[in-house]
Amino acid sequence: MFIEKFGVERWMDLYETRCTYNLAETCVDSLTLDELLNLCGRKGFPEELGQLRLSYGDIPGSLRLRKAIGDLYQSIEPDHVLVTHGAIGANSLIYETLIDNGDHVVAVFPTYQQHQSIPKCFGAQVDLLDLTPENNYLPDLKQVRGLVGPKTKLLALNNPNNPAGSLMDQALLEKIVEIARPYQTYILCDEVYRGLNDDGDGFTSSIADLYELGISTGSMSKVYSLAGLRLGWMASRAPRLLESVMTHRDYNTISVGRLDDHLASLALESKNAILTRSHAITRGNRRVLAQWVDNEPLISWSPPLSGTTALLELHLAISSWDFCVRLVEQTGVMLCPGSVLGREGFLRIGYGCSPESLTKGLEQLTFFLRQLATQGLTEGAA
Ligand SMILES: Cc1ncc(COP(=O)(O)O)c(C=O)c1O
Repeated sequence: MFIEKFGVERWMDLYETRCTYNLAETCVDSLTLDELLNLCGRKGFPEELGQLRLSYGDIPGSLRLRKAIGDLYQSIEPDHVLVTHGAIGANSLIYETLIDNGDHVVAVFPTYQQHQSIPKCFGAQVDLLDLTPENNYLPDLKQVRGLVGPKTKLLALNNPNNPAGSLMDQALLEKIVEIARPYQTYILCDEVYRGLNDDGDGFTSSIADLYELGISTGSMSKVYSLAGLRLGWMASRAPRLLESVMTHRDYNTISVGRLDDHLASLALESKNAILTRSHAITRGNRRVLAQWVDNEPLISWSPPLSGTTALLELHLAISSWDFCVRLVEQTGVMLCPGSVLGREGFLRIGYGCSPESLTKGLEQLTFFLRQLATQGLTEGAA
């Protein structure tokens, strides 16, 4: 079965373990196991880990973990949660379960490529809902009304959005639900960056709370800095959906790792300590980045409101791919070229890294931009 190459993953694979300043990464600066245990108030190696029997464990994910995940929502009980291999596993399983040849899917664009390429691979007709800087990278309701209809099986959203960092508030989500409900269209909202807003507790409303056919996917990777656990989930109150997903999941997952399940439970039970650290990093770095963009004439943007990424518009006559390759090879700074996200002329920056990496990476980036400008690469140059 043909599927398109995953642009971002192929790019990350080229340089992510060789660069010096990884400003392409989308996780909040990853934790070591020691740091995690410290944040959870544990001293040394927890005795219960030594006692953990390495069986398959609870097939859908432990009740303890599903309860801790449910606590991230208002109306989600443990039975509404299935634990998966990352949010990537949750998204995949949902498409595999719901989408048949000939189905109609609407997906925001740009976003994580899974949401276009997997339903296309299953033979769905996928219409893209364009997110543009002119509309602050938010869905245009007129466009949503034009695209979603009686044949639409699923509408894929991503809130907060990767790559743009835009944020749909509850009022906008409710308007989208009103459009989908008459057609009984599922709304899959990839909420892997939920919890990183600039103010308050950082959490935005979830589609799983707002809509009876809403499906929220999330994970430990980004907000909780634990991508190495490879642990995610789906949460939904949609009748019979999780039973159907379970039928598919039995064939490709069985259960997630027991160690991962256990560490994720510990982390979510101490989520306030982890979130305090994550907010300090993302909120501080967002301000540093905003100041840098304000002072950089060759870059413009629509400022991100949440998440860990932003799209930078590059005002130089060079392709985003060539720019990023030259940048990483000359300075060690890794960004992500817009071309692999379907947005030529743009660069994606990830600012969830340590404040020190961001500051040093931006210094190198300024230097590199000046160099290109003196080489006559400014837009409109002959
Ligand atoms: C929007 C979005 N969804 C899902 C994922 C997958 O995350 P994970 O499988 O690590 O939970 C990513 C990773 O970059 C992402 O950006």
